[in-house]
Amino acid sequence: MSTTVSDKRDVKKPLLFECAWEVANKVGGIYTVIKTKVPVTVSEYGDRYCLIGPLSYKTAPMEVEAQEPEDDAVRMTLESMRSRGIKILYGRWLIEGAPRVLLFDTGSAYSHLDEWKGDLWNLAGIPTPPNDHETNETIVFGYLVAWFLGEFVTRELNKSVIAHFHEWQAGLAIPLCRKRHIDVTTVFTTHATLLGRYLCAGSVDFYNNLQYFDVDHEAGKRGIYHRYCIERSAAHCADVFTTVSHITAYESEHLLKRKPDGVVPNGLNVVKFQAMHEFQNLHSTSKAKINEFIRGHFYGHYDFDIDNTLYMFTAGRYEYRNKGVDMFIESLARLNYRLQKAGSTVTVVAFIIMPAATQSYTVEALKGQAVIKQLRDTVTDIQTRIGDRIFEHAARYSGESGTEFPSLNTLLSDEDKVLLKRRIFALKRNSLPPVTTHNMVDDSADPILNQIRRVQLFNGHNDRVKIIFHPDFLNSNNPILGLDYEEFVRGCHLGVFPSYYEPWGYTPAECTVMGVPSITTNLSGFGSFMQDLIEEPADEGCYIVDRRMQSIEESVNQLTEYMFSFCGKTRRQRINQRNRVERLSPLLDWKNLGIEYSKARQLALRRAYPDAFNDEEEDFEFSGVERLPFSVPGSPRFRAGMATPGDIGTLTEEMQSLGTSDYRGTVWPVSKEEEDEGYPF
Ligand code: UDP
Ligand code: G6P
Ligand code: GLC
Repeated sequence: MSTTVSDKRDVKKPLLFECAWEVANKVGGIYTVIKTKVPVTVSEYGDRYCLIGPLSYKTAPMEVEAQEPEDDAVRMTLESMRSRGIKILYGRWLIEGAPRVLLFDTGSAYSHLDEWKGDLWNLAGIPTPPNDHETNETIVFGYLVAWFLGEFVTRELNKSVIAHFHEWQAGLAIPLCRKRHIDVTTVFTTHATLLGRYLCAGSVDFYNNLQYFDVDHEAGKRGIYHRYCIERSAAHCADVFTTVSHITAYESEHLLKRKPDGVVPNGLNVVKFQAMHEFQNLHSTSKAKINEFIRGHFYGHYDFDIDNTLYMFTAGRYEYRNKGVDMFIESLARLNYRLQKAGSTVTVVAFIIMPAATQSYTVEALKGQAVIKQLRDTVTDIQTRIGDRIFEHAARYSGESGTEFPSLNTLLSDEDKVLLKRRIFALKRNSLPPVTTHNMVDDSADPILNQIRRVQLFNGHNDRVKIIFHPDFLNSNNPILGLDYEEFVRGCHLGVFPSYYEPWGYTPAECTVMGVPSITTNLSGFGSFMQDLIEEPADEGCYIVDRRMQSIEESVNQLTEYMFSFCGKTRRQRINQRNRVERLSPLLDWKNLGIEYSKARQLALRRAYPDAFNDEEEDFEFSGVERLPFSVPGSPRFRAGMATPGDIGTLTEEMQSLGTSDYRGTVWPVSKEEEDEGYPF
């Protein structure tokens, strides 16, 4: 056999390009995957690692420091592309790990769009309509990445190259690499399927019908056939195909028609505090900031005990049904009723943090913060003046007994009283505290507002459950609720994420590492992951609502019950529970979960360059980080045989040969034909 170029590539020290639409460009959870995973990947690959993404002029200048590539092959390839008019930003992404990053300005390549669309049709039979902006972006980006990789491997002939792609929007380069025989090995990780997201957002019984959907027809009906084709070809052309949870693996198998090679669960960059009480203190200081917002928001109706108030929240991209906001609001209404009936003195403030189209903050919301700030400033001024008066009086003490203290009615001057009264009168209000902080573009059709109207949670005096809908992501520079998301989460008591469609779900995972208990579902990748690992997740502050095996009514009641019993906890119990939750964080640490990515890359190399792996017994090496012995202090009980998080990983060649029902923790309906025949391709 003649020696090909591939045979010469060194597979021991491969180069890694990781490509995603959310590199240095925040949209949702994929940004969190990429960003938090960087430190472990850098420790494994060092400067052999480079991320590839689209160039967003809005965010890149803040996130990336430009520099020239040291690597000749990269430099020459970029020069060649630039000489053909492509705008590129190369440099270091300014996050922990400071990885190399390569961002392509898709706008600079739109003159090629028609040519590339034609090529895509000829090459892969994928049709593309003229006015789908997202698809156009995907095509231009995909062709730019394939262009780069194609030229790069003709210059770099000695090292093997792994190209790892996330999600369909970054995946088009995969079929291009395959069709053009570009000498790289590819991994495709999907974080959802397009059809899954669309089908679930409607009202189908998704999970019971997964294997019966006529996928082409369903995609066509929803106008996403071309996108679906891109996603499906990425999944099929990749050397290794992975996804983030077992539930999405099952979904991908049926909707994309390729069984994933394995699951790569999402981790976080867990930062451990020296002492346990530190994160508890952070809860206290963050909660104080939320308290201040609440005083402003509820001015004129601030008639509840803030010390006996619990903050619950849900957050994420606005996907009303998929994120389970429908179920959250319904359960809040039931919780309100149960707390009232039980004569509880607890108040629950439930936040919904989900970006929607808005015009501005409402005048009422801004006014609330203003009047409470004025009151606070005035009281602080008066406090200083009272202090001065006491001091002045005391300093003049002449020894005459009984004159040590000033008389109380001289402490508050008439002027102070007038000022204070004005501030207090400013708190009068005829309307109830608003449900939303912003003016919505489409107030009357907004599903969240309509559901709140339906259940009549209007922040009334008798309501034990109050609602605040903040239709924007949080930011410490906001004039209202001016906290960063992390700070906000820390200040809350309970995260509630009753998702119906959630391939992973970072929001409850982030709660866990911050020591905040959360409620999620067994239809979310994260919920199922925790259920697989922990014997009694609820005992550890990780509540999982069953949305699989029971009716909606039963799920709503279960969620209500979880929230209701949470309201019955004492402060001491809440503090203990936060400690227990925080102890689970090693389960979610990239230091432990990163190994699944390493396995995926290793498998990709073996598939592309089988001859380079002569020694079959050679040990797979995960050189990135030390694998920590899994030692969780205290008592969470883990399921037998799953003591280490790595055990959850499934990335083995064998997985290919297993049947459908091997997805962990899942009893899925398997059709007769499937059992008998397997797949027709
Ligand atoms: N998030 C944020 N600011 C907010 C609310 C949410 O940055 O105000 C982030 C959150 O930290 C999480 C991501 O948005 O990392 C949502 O990811 P998830 O996997 O839960 O859902 P996705 O949007 O990807 O479906
Ligand atoms: C932390 C602080 C405590 C505080 C408590 C409030 O644990 O260290 O000083 O009392 O938070 O907890 P709570 O659940 O009532 O907000
Ligand atoms: C997707 C999913 C979400 C997941 C994220 C990261 O956006 O909707 O559930 O957490 O990707 O994998």
